[in-house]
Amino acid sequence: MEFLKEIKLIQGGMGVYVSNWRLAKAVAMEKPGITAGTVSGTGLDWVYVRLLQLGDPGGHVRRALKAFDDMFETGIGKKILDRYFIDGGKAPGSQFKNPPQQIVRALDGTDILPLPSQPEEPVTLALDNDNIELLIATGFAEVWLAKEGHSGNIFINFLKKVELPLVYTMYGAMLADVDGVIIGAGNPDGLPAICSQLVNHETVRIDIQVLYREPGEDFYVPFDPKQVADGKFTHKPLHRPAILAIASLQGLVQTLADSQSKPPDGFIIEHHTAGGHNAGPLGPMKLDTLGQPIYSELDEPDMHAIQQIGLPFWLAGGYGSSEKIRKALNYGATGVQVGSVFALAEESGMKPAYRTAILNEIKKGTDDAALVRTTLFSPTGFPFKVAQLDGTLADDSVYQARSRLCDIGLLQQRGLSKPDENGKRRLFHRCSAAPVESFVKKRGLPHNTESRRCLCNGLLSTVGLGQVKNQVEEPAIVTLGNHLDSIRRLSHQGQYPYWVHDVVQDLLGE
Ligand SMILES: Cc1cc2nc3c(=O)[nH]c(=O)nc-3n(C[C@H](O)[C@H](O)[C@H](O)COP(=O)(O)O)c2cc1C
Repeated sequence: MEFLKEIKLIQGGMGVYVSNWRLAKAVAMEKPGITAGTVSGTGLDWVYVRLLQLGDPGGHVRRALKAFDDMFETGIGKKILDRYFIDGGKAPGSQFKNPPQQIVRALDGTDILPLPSQPEEPVTLALDNDNIELLIATGFAEVWLAKEGHSGNIFINFLKKVELPLVYTMYGAMLADVDGVIIGAGNPDGLPAICSQLVNHETVRIDIQVLYREPGEDFYVPFDPKQVADGKFTHKPLHRPAILAIASLQGLVQTLADSQSKPPDGFIIEHHTAGGHNAGPLGPMKLDTLGQPIYSELDEPDMHAIQQIGLPFWLAGGYGSSEKIRKALNYGATGVQVGSVFALAEESGMKPAYRTAILNEIKKGTDDAALVRTTLFSPTGFPFKVAQLDGTLADDSVYQARSRLCDIGLLQQRGLSKPDENGKRRLFHRCSAAPVESFVKKRGLPHNTESRRCLCNGLLSTVGLGQVKNQVEEPAIVTLGNHLDSIRRLSHQGQYPYWVHDVVQDLLGE
């Protein structure tokens, strides 16, 4: 993994589809080898199905799926096209057809699980083949497009919390020769080893968290690449990408470095001021008057301890300037990971209307603290940064006008009902942003639904792929970091757009 030592600037993964192949490719091509562009691996199945229903503007999805079919001769790309592509695009007022939700089932295809007779025996669950094929194909397509025509570094980013699609999408990305995988929002122990096994197309175990299980009971979905598409992916070994784990403090860095299975190849040390999801504060959660989690000195990483661990690391969260890069290098970091300033670049997947709305707030003089708040909206339970933009889910009236509904389900938890008189339990999927009654019926506590807002629908709307219901588009939700100084500088106080080239010049110079 010598190439990692050269990388000074990683453009962070930004889901859903904010850091898409266009943005990642532009970054990777700016200073090849010194920069890395990261595509978001979250929700790619939903993104691609919707792009196809918009008529696939530019023909990029069709091009990538054709490359997939030409390379592996599985016909999966054509199958996806036949199912979702609408020539000329759907009518603006009509709904998108959804891909299958990622629902795991018992091996007999039902959601019924008997009480375990031997609790030590892990329980095997299954995911539909259609889901698996779509995840592999779209993971491939996004990385293939990002890597097309240059030799710069392309990484892919995942949230560990979204555990089921991760391994399939990562395998698809590996089929397209991805250079690195960055994993945040959870402890990714075990994934470096899984990635190494997938290089040789070995069967891997995807551990699934299931709430209300019996003591000692474990659940997993086996993934055997040889069983997918008649083993057509498995003819030659793949290249092992670097695995970078996102951590906020030295404790997790040390734990992962000492992993019983395999340590990651490096770390992103992400401060709680970064855009997107953040680690919660250490200790009991205390909120300020605006309902934001209060962080303290305890949440500041010990740079010396991290440096002593000896693996390469990059600092993230407010590191979008040349001075901050110098500071990171002085701490012993290899470089920095930067998100917010790229999210507002012209190549970003964020819908221009939201980028303009943010720049207008900056032009008006709205300060950073008023523009971005740390919320508890995310069904993951992690704090989540939200830009305070009118007409988006940040606005309480917009949230209240939307009926709670979970029809995408990427952030669902899995759990088991209480056993009936025959010892049978039902496996359920639930989301804390779904209707409160349905969450409570699935053993949830009402207070855990408070403040939760639908990120799946909201984030797809942010990139112009929102579902339309009764002619109304789902409200967007926009995330951004706390430090907006580099956006102010590059946009001339919100007055002018800027491009990836400008950002990389500003950060790394000539
Ligand atoms: C719009 C946006 C979306 C993000 N989405 C993700 C994500 O899906 N996964 C992730 O690991 N980090 C995500 N992040 C964090 C970035 O990858 C990066 O670490 C962070 O933005 C760095 O801090 P900065 O925003 O101060 O530059 C997101 C950040 C932004 C601004």
